[in-house]
Amino acid sequence: MPSHEQIRDRIAQLRDEINYHNYRYYILDDPEISDSEYDRLLRELQDLEQQYPELITPDSPTQRVGATPLESFAEVKHRIPMLSLGNAFSDEEVLDFDRRARERLGVDVIEYAVEPKLDGLAISLRYEEGVLVQAGTRGDGTTGEDVTLNVRTIETIPLRLVGHDYPTVLEVRGEIIMDRAGFEKLNQSRREQGEKEFVNPRNAAAGSLRQLDPRITASRPLSFFSYGIGEVTEARLPDRHSAIIKKLQSWGLRINPESRVVKGVQGCLEYYRWIQDKRAALAYEIDGVVYKVDKIAQQEQLGFVARAPRWAIAHKFPAQEEMTEIEAIDVQVGRTGALTPVARLKPVFVGGVTVSNATLHNQDEINRLDVRVGDTVIVRRAGDVIPQIVSVVKSRRKGRPRKFKIPAHCPVCGSATERLEGDAKTFCTGGLFCEAQRKEMIKHFASRRAMDIEGLGDKLVEQLVDNKLVNDPADLYALTEAQLCGLERMAEKSAQNILAALDKSKDTSLARFIYALGIHNVGETTAQTLAQHFGSLDALMAADEESLQAVPDIGPIVARSIVTFFAQPHNREVIEKLLAAGLHWPDVEVKSAHELPLKGKTFVLTGTLTRMTRNEAKAALQALGAKVSGSVSKKTDYVVVGENPGSKAAKAEQLGVEVLTESMLAQLLGKSA
Ligand code: IVH
Repeated sequence: MPSHEQIRDRIAQLRDEINYHNYRYYILDDPEISDSEYDRLLRELQDLEQQYPELITPDSPTQRVGATPLESFAEVKHRIPMLSLGNAFSDEEVLDFDRRARERLGVDVIEYAVEPKLDGLAISLRYEEGVLVQAGTRGDGTTGEDVTLNVRTIETIPLRLVGHDYPTVLEVRGEIIMDRAGFEKLNQSRREQGEKEFVNPRNAAAGSLRQLDPRITASRPLSFFSYGIGEVTEARLPDRHSAIIKKLQSWGLRINPESRVVKGVQGCLEYYRWIQDKRAALAYEIDGVVYKVDKIAQQEQLGFVARAPRWAIAHKFPAQEEMTEIEAIDVQVGRTGALTPVARLKPVFVGGVTVSNATLHNQDEINRLDVRVGDTVIVRRAGDVIPQIVSVVKSRRKGRPRKFKIPAHCPVCGSATERLEGDAKTFCTGGLFCEAQRKEMIKHFASRRAMDIEGLGDKLVEQLVDNKLVNDPADLYALTEAQLCGLERMAEKSAQNILAALDKSKDTSLARFIYALGIHNVGETTAQTLAQHFGSLDALMAADEESLQAVPDIGPIVARSIVTFFAQPHNREVIEKLLAAGLHWPDVEVKSAHELPLKGKTFVLTGTLTRMTRNEAKAALQALGAKVSGSVSKKTDYVVVGENPGSKAAKAEQLGVEVLTESMLAQLLGKSA
């Protein structure tokens, strides 16, 4: 049995070790031991603390997350105020700042400590005897909020400093941030939970730190960089800012690895451009750089104006978010037929360029933002990314503008649009005709697995469409040698070859033809299934959703796509043109595709069928050209009566309509009874 003293020593030793490895991992980014080894140490400490709760201290690395929510935040007084920085938005303003500082100091060149300006929130951490005792937000600079319990959950903030030469009281100032990856992950999970997303990492960091329940803060991916000091007692600190920062690192605080020391204002401006280029590759967001006179003696000589030091300035990047108005919402049709709503903006300078369009992606995004024409919105353009609409400034909405809906008809060709379940995008269904989809459609039509038109490659299709020789796939079959020879790099011989290939392609199969139509969600296999099942193009075109769904492997989404496609008059016109051009295929079944035996006949099904479902019977009848109706009338030709028929059988008798039994139906369908 180890003595209480031995336990106490072991606990102290474990805490030291764990703190050291935290320092290697979080601060130096250079771990010495494996994760599993670290976990073993932490578990041993947790076990001992559980057995001997009287030995738990608040600075133990096991004590990051407290379990009790606060009622409200207490006040924190900053004895040394937390200042803000003056801003410079141009090189000239930076040159002015440097000139004034040099004049006051009476020197030719100033050495500057230069650092990224982190886009998070400022915090002051108070360490007494090396233990974190308080963390306060900036507030108004003199009074902030006590967020100690929340700050304790941030792993990059040490609960106890490392080493021995730290001052008795040390206030560390720095920025709490959320990196981009953590921000995206947090928002994704909020989206999934149906919670409101954060607009940017800074808001997410601020929102996370202002939680009364530290367990929530603990679940948020926050981190910290130190960039300065506040109150410090009984210690002689280095005489340069850059050296003080290095000292902070030696005590276990994280500092920014992009920081440098440069000579003169030209060094500052070079650093600015260097960081600007690097910006998109950084893991976190920055909104500029900060230049600080490096020598503390010079800082003291320069002093302060109002609430900002004369020895430092923030050189800001052009704003990445600006407000503007939505003048219109247009809908663009892409080459695959996808409809994309685009906001037309009152031009605004944001992220270094003038922006007048922003994508709204799809209907879900429009609903999420609740964006309407005339709204004032916040537009964001980060790095080289496409401009996004971040949010609508609802308080600026005038009147009651209508909600925006993606139109039910394609703005390019007028065909119906469809949005299929599980898909965020809305599509135009006029594939054969729509100008926006023309090139892609024809390329697909000609491709090897579709109509297999040899020599009609992508480049040639583009030329044909651009020269207005071809508007739809049927136009291909009207091309002449003279027209082809008029194209770039087209010799007589190749023109003849293409005409021959076109002629050859007319002799095709029903499955290939269906696939070549480019119906949404109808790939090669589905096209084959459809061809086999319906046997003819007419039957397929006559099928409704219900009978399509009766076909094996065809679900409601595909059925809907097929019906919608054939419902577009323009698509039908192109199909007719193709058939008139001489496209043909062998019959799939014995029946001739064009002479459907049951064409013009109307059937009604009633009662329970035993050999097939009603939908199967319906599909089979439709495949032979019959119409299947739900109610019996004088126009009905046959009523098929299964087991336990209802009133429809009686009605048939009454009207003198011919009644068929199930086995008679089977015979009619060519299945042996
Ligand atoms: S130094 C007396 N350095 O910018 C100087 N501030 O506009 C005090 N900030 O409240 C600030 N990165 O939240 C300094 N590398 C950096 C910074 C930085 C971001 C923030 C900080 C401060 C605000 C001042």
